[in-house]
Amino acid sequence: MCGIIGYVGERPVSDVLLKGLKRLEYRGYDSSGVAMFHGGKIEVHKAAGKITEIEPLLADRKQKGLEGGIGHTRWATHGAPNTKNAHPHKVGDIVLVHNGIIENYREIQKLVHSKGLTPKSETDSELFAFLVHFEMTEEKCSFVEAVRKSFLKITGASSVVAMHEQHPGLIVGVRNGSPLVAAWNPELGAMLASDAQPLLDYANTVHYLENGDMIVCERNKIEFIDAHSGLKISRPGVKIDWSADRLDKNGYPHYMLKEIHEQSRTILDTLNANFAASGAHLPFDFAPHPGIDNLSRTDRLSIVACGTSWHASLLGKYWLEKFAGLSVEAELASEFRYRSPVLKKNQVLMGVSQSGETADTLAVIQDVNKREIPTMCITNVKGSTIARESKSALYTYAGPEIGVASTKAFTGQMLMLLLLAGKLGRDVAVNDSTGKAMGEIERTYRELFEVPHHLSNALMEGSPTAKAVKAAALATQNSKGFFFIGRGYSFPIALEGALKLKEIAYVHAEGYAAGELKHGPIAMLEPDFTVIVLAPHDMWYEKTVSNLQEVKARGARIIAIGHADDKQIPQMCDHFIPMPIKTKKDDGTPTMSEALNPFLLAPILQLFSYEIATMKGTDVDQPRNLAKSVTVE
Ligand code: AGP
Repeated sequence: MCGIIGYVGERPVSDVLLKGLKRLEYRGYDSSGVAMFHGGKIEVHKAAGKITEIEPLLADRKQKGLEGGIGHTRWATHGAPNTKNAHPHKVGDIVLVHNGIIENYREIQKLVHSKGLTPKSETDSELFAFLVHFEMTEEKCSFVEAVRKSFLKITGASSVVAMHEQHPGLIVGVRNGSPLVAAWNPELGAMLASDAQPLLDYANTVHYLENGDMIVCERNKIEFIDAHSGLKISRPGVKIDWSADRLDKNGYPHYMLKEIHEQSRTILDTLNANFAASGAHLPFDFAPHPGIDNLSRTDRLSIVACGTSWHASLLGKYWLEKFAGLSVEAELASEFRYRSPVLKKNQVLMGVSQSGETADTLAVIQDVNKREIPTMCITNVKGSTIARESKSALYTYAGPEIGVASTKAFTGQMLMLLLLAGKLGRDVAVNDSTGKAMGEIERTYRELFEVPHHLSNALMEGSPTAKAVKAAALATQNSKGFFFIGRGYSFPIALEGALKLKEIAYVHAEGYAAGELKHGPIAMLEPDFTVIVLAPHDMWYEKTVSNLQEVKARGARIIAIGHADDKQIPQMCDHFIPMPIKTKKDDGTPTMSEALNPFLLAPILQLFSYEIATMKGTDVDQPRNLAKSVTVE
């Protein structure tokens, strides 16, 4: 979950480390620190809180980074988030930063105490520095060898990046589980980090370390070593097609708002990328893909994911069942991995993960790989661990998502699942003599290309939708609690709407299938409680309206979201948020297939949460207690 960085090269080391740490801050941000050479010694600067806290400490440290430096931004696991526990940790001449968990830390702690020594912090990370120190002082190992041998003594998913006071210009990294990526540029030197984002400012080709890899970085080269054998290995470069300018806010006050607005573009990017690759002769064409071939041959799919990605997966289940007749389960990875799931040999298992690094999702894929069941994934990050561990990968084209609360990556995942459902459904429908199913698929395909336009209309500042969102947020910001309810395709969106509000506004919110309300949650309703009813004109509309009436009868405040020309709902609710489409076009034909409503509803709810969060003054991009990439269980 933490972000780690190392640099040795021409640029001022403090600048590179601070810029890189800011790129990594979304991974964790409760404390931070850097270590760098100054006057022949390694200085460690650290502080509780965000990177801005250590910036002033480095104001007069502008020398070239030829002797190297390392940095860290933390999401606390062992020990409170304070300066003492912040990384880097220094023991003797060794200084290091760590991402992950050392599971056998008690054993190492005992060893340290048995030698009459006391760690300065409460972290498991500092204990690794002791191990390296012992290997060097007692076993007379070289620094690189000491890191390697120490690494073989720890268990759990971890990455470590270390320097030694007597070896300026040398940085050593090791990876097991928690990601580590390196880049080398002849002009600038060598760099390594927890993900590719900070490296994109200096290089567009990166090298991913595999589990059990070590890397030795010097100004003029990087070398990979198999930590178990100590032998040199090669790790080919991967070209990253995100440019560094996509990592900036582009004038928006928050990354999250920028990313909400980017969705029209990212949806189009994903559509174009897929259909350009296929030539798009038929609706929902895909370029040949082994994962899709496997799906074509099976009637059963298990999807695993966490958080927002699970909500997208749930929606995928609805589409894949309806369009493709596939039997689909969408499961929380953290539950699935410890159950005894019954998997069939001919089925497919799919992981859905924005980051491609989520520990539980990854663990399921690794377990299922051992059972010889084809695995695949949908992810936003090329070269991520989940992409590499899955037997095949499909990519969303959302670009880097910096806001901790997922927005554009969610719509990217939804889109990819819908495209799959459309493709598999089309293949079945081609043989359907009535042509009915094919008609619906063709229509959905055509209208899909209109979604970005509708979405821009919804989100545009001053649009009827955006104005209604703001007014509803203003009026309900102090509600005692929020329920989000919806049926069918709107149910996963209700779950996601509630999660967004909790994440960024710290407000109590729950998502429910609208039909479930009367089975318990309705007892909560009273006048200062708000219920957000997702009521687009779809096959569930009348039933949703009945649920809305039940809410109204209990006196709760109602925000309803529906088609712009809905005559009924605006009369029944306190605040009506119009989607920017009518139920029918002027010629009487339906405007948009109901399967596409989630692409408008989700961003509208993201905007609603954003408005409430900014009214409350929370840290929208880096909400408390969260980290974007959850690489520990
Ligand atoms: C989304 O807003 C959350 N921050 C979180 O639920 C996230 O979706 C979850 O941790 C899964 O992450 P992944 O998609 O990177 O696997």
